[in-house]
Amino acid sequence: MEEEEYLFKVVIIGDSAVGKSNLLSRYARNEFNLHSKATIGVEFQTQSVDVDGKEVKAQIWDTAGQERFRAVTSAYYRGALGALLVYDISRCSTFDSIARWLDELNTHSDTTVARMLVGNKCDLETLREVSVEEGKALAEAEGLFFIETSALDSTNVKTAFEIVIKEIY
Ligand code: GTP
Ligand code: MG
Repeated sequence: MEEEEYLFKVVIIGDSAVGKSNLLSRYARNEFNLHSKATIGVEFQTQSVDVDGKEVKAQIWDTAGQERFRAVTSAYYRGALGALLVYDISRCSTFDSIARWLDELNTHSDTTVARMLVGNKCDLETLREVSVEEGKALAEAEGLFFIETSALDSTNVKTAFEIVIKEIY
């Protein structure tokens, strides 16, 4: 019998330094870097996930949050079936930017894209500027899944990606 293969494209977006690259490296390689450099252009990792006994491959794309380092926007989103919209719970400006990232996502992809709002750096509880309730409320209003994560201590990182991947499947 022929093996069926699934390859899904998932994109990660959000302001610079919210932790997009570290979420991906934690998920794909179980690596975290305290002093990671801003991403220039696009990077991606392919990750295999078991969904209901089937092997699903997710190709996860990561780009720069900084405008001047970004790749061609339309190419980045082309064919994406899932998206993680990331902010940093210790910097409310990054949460305010989510509306802009959502606009861009909506402009470049269709509404069937599985979308997850991710409040990263939940290990920084003492520096928190965005409450869990605010995150939940935005997600509900915009029809997104919602989760808080920490790439530093691994909280919910696998879950965040796999909810999106399973939703696509
Ligand atoms: P750009 O590539 O510029 O868009 O940034 P990015 O969103 O990829 O951020 P990156 O992953 O490079 O992380 C930025 C900084 O935040 C780094 O110093 C990381 O070590 C730190 N960081 C990332 N995730 C976490 C986290 O969950 N907790 C804490 N405390 N720090 C984190
Ligand atoms: Mg990066």
